[in-house]
Amino acid sequence: MAVVRVLGVEVRYGSFKVLDDVSLDVGEGEVVAVLGPNGSGKTTLLKTIDGILRPVKGSVYIDSKSVSRLSRVDIAKLVGFVPQHVNLVRGVRVVDFVLTGRKPYIDFIPTSKDLEVVLRYLRYVDAEYLVDRDVTELSSGEFQRVLIARALAAEPRILLLDEPTSNLDIRYQVAILNLIKKLSRERGVTIITSLHDLTQAYRYAEKVIFLSRGRIYAMGGVDDVMREDVIEAVYGVKTKVLRDLRAVIPIT
Ligand SMILES: Nc1ncnc2c1ncn2[C@@H]1O[C@H](COP(=O)(O)OP(=O)(O)OP(=O)(O)O)[C@@H](O)[C@H]1O
Ligand SMILES: [Mg+2]
Repeated sequence: MAVVRVLGVEVRYGSFKVLDDVSLDVGEGEVVAVLGPNGSGKTTLLKTIDGILRPVKGSVYIDSKSVSRLSRVDIAKLVGFVPQHVNLVRGVRVVDFVLTGRKPYIDFIPTSKDLEVVLRYLRYVDAEYLVDRDVTELSSGEFQRVLIARALAAEPRILLLDEPTSNLDIRYQVAILNLIKKLSRERGVTIITSLHDLTQAYRYAEKVIFLSRGRIYAMGGVDDVMREDVIEAVYGVKTKVLRDLRAVIPIT
């Protein structure tokens, strides 16, 4: 059964159609990469699944429940979102920032269990040493890991990540992608992540979705869909898909 189902979704910003007739199913514990050029609608799709944006047509279902009927708190218990951009205010410590991820479970004052969970996930992303630092004073790679810890702090069944590796050095790119894989394998967390790096998608995703101008151009198992003709049609770039290495390189 699909954990996430997107059915005939159309999303607009004013009169500008950004997603057009998008439908997809994601099963429990699957890792799905959303690919496509800048402006193709990846962030918009993730925000729509999280119920932040409302489609003008179609629906999103999580565990067969329509997202439009769930409260923000219910959605926050089910879905963790790691955004591409965040506005930060000075004077907030990392520990308190990650604690905001526990909000759906906190009545009034965080308990020692909440704090324990926060520290566990900071450790998980190798960021425990940042616990007392101000969030505005982190490197972008450090902040990226803190953002993931915040999303995990709610212990969601579904994790949406928007370009989680874009600010990371190669070590943390690998670390975060391995973490994603581990969450899916060991805990059955369903992962939907946008990515720019096709090689990363090839190696870490089971299923890929290529968006082109707000429509799904191709979707399916990574071995079937990661093809030179698809990539050229979507990005307008010639590439070589190296099947043995599971890598995609542009040909100039
Ligand atoms: N708040 C907004 N108001 C109006 N238009 C928007 C808004 N947010 C995004 N758009 C437009 O919607 C389209 C899709 O944007 P989106 O952010 O979903 O693309 P993306 O695939 O995530 O791109 P990127 O790879 O650059 O992150 C773009 O043309 C963008 O300019
Ligand atoms: Mg985006």
